[in-house]
Amino acid sequence: MAAKFLNGVRGACGTSRYSTRFEAPFLRAAPRKLLALIFSLLLSSCPKAEKTPASRDALILGFSQIGAESAWRIRNTQSVQESAKQAGIQLLFANAEQKQENQIKAIRSFIAYQVDVIAFVPIVVSGWDNVLQEARKAGIPVLVTDRKIDADESLYAGFIGTDSEKEGREAALFLLDKFAGRRKAGDLIRVAEFSGTVGSSVADGRAKGFRDIIEKEPEFEIFYSKSGDFMRSKGYELMRTLLENRPQIDVLFSHNDSMTLGAMDAMREAGLRPGEDIAIITIDAQQKAIDALKAGEVNCVIECNPNQGPLIMDIAKQLIAGGQTPRFIHVDEAVFREGDDLSVLPPRGY
Ligand code: AHR
Repeated sequence: MAAKFLNGVRGACGTSRYSTRFEAPFLRAAPRKLLALIFSLLLSSCPKAEKTPASRDALILGFSQIGAESAWRIRNTQSVQESAKQAGIQLLFANAEQKQENQIKAIRSFIAYQVDVIAFVPIVVSGWDNVLQEARKAGIPVLVTDRKIDADESLYAGFIGTDSEKEGREAALFLLDKFAGRRKAGDLIRVAEFSGTVGSSVADGRAKGFRDIIEKEPEFEIFYSKSGDFMRSKGYELMRTLLENRPQIDVLFSHNDSMTLGAMDAMREAGLRPGEDIAIITIDAQQKAIDALKAGEVNCVIECNPNQGPLIMDIAKQLIAGGQTPRFIHVDEAVFREGDDLSVLPPRGY
């Protein structure tokens, strides 16, 4: 009975790898209520199996992605999917639609599936301890990718992702340079900050790195700081509302390109010239931001590298082979400034 029931789960999730695993004796003996619970958990966060040429012996990676809030995020997902295929790794992919509880459900379903490795992008820093302990109990190594967490380091195998504090420092360093003349003249330079998702390591890191430098310079004032959740629509709304009282805004420091593009729309609607009336520093380096930099509508673009898939697959393979893996890997990231020769920059791909 139990085996029949769980075969239904397997079919719903579109993978056949786990049939014998679900017929474990404890599950055969499990009461119906428990099985129903497992069924509903698996169904609600049902990970999508990628169609790969993987054999039954292929390594299985369960990956929990935040969602698709930005062009950057979509490229990050593609990078994971493409490199899993290239590495011959079978990918179980789950989109959490911006909800931590969906990520926790997905990780639990990966544990139930007994995948070989779990990787996830934590939407926020905290709240992962319990599910990571469950993974450890099941003997499944977990990789934290893109964003960081505040859990005990013994609960996960390593981190691969961006150095958000460095990104924030780069933004501040650009400003010191750009406003060197006005600083000398003793002018006050007023900065508005649009930050990312509240409680995420990238929003915290970018804000911290930026402040570590800018707050030592008395000519700068961060007079406004609000979260636009990394979304274009919210960047537009924040800027539209901010401009209603016509405050003096010298600089927009935006934690990602999506919010920046929305903010630029609102500036244009208010008759302002982005990049001239308001200096703009943005993070991600998607193609549209690079194009705006070339057109003089953005002044500095700090790259946040979404192409993390190849490293994730490499480390996943090393973990399974029992090799020593680095605890923290920061991906390479560049800074593009106004005046740089960008004519040879290859298309960004996102
Ligand atoms: O975690 C990386 C951030 O998340 C990127 O800057 C942003 O665009 C994304 O949504």
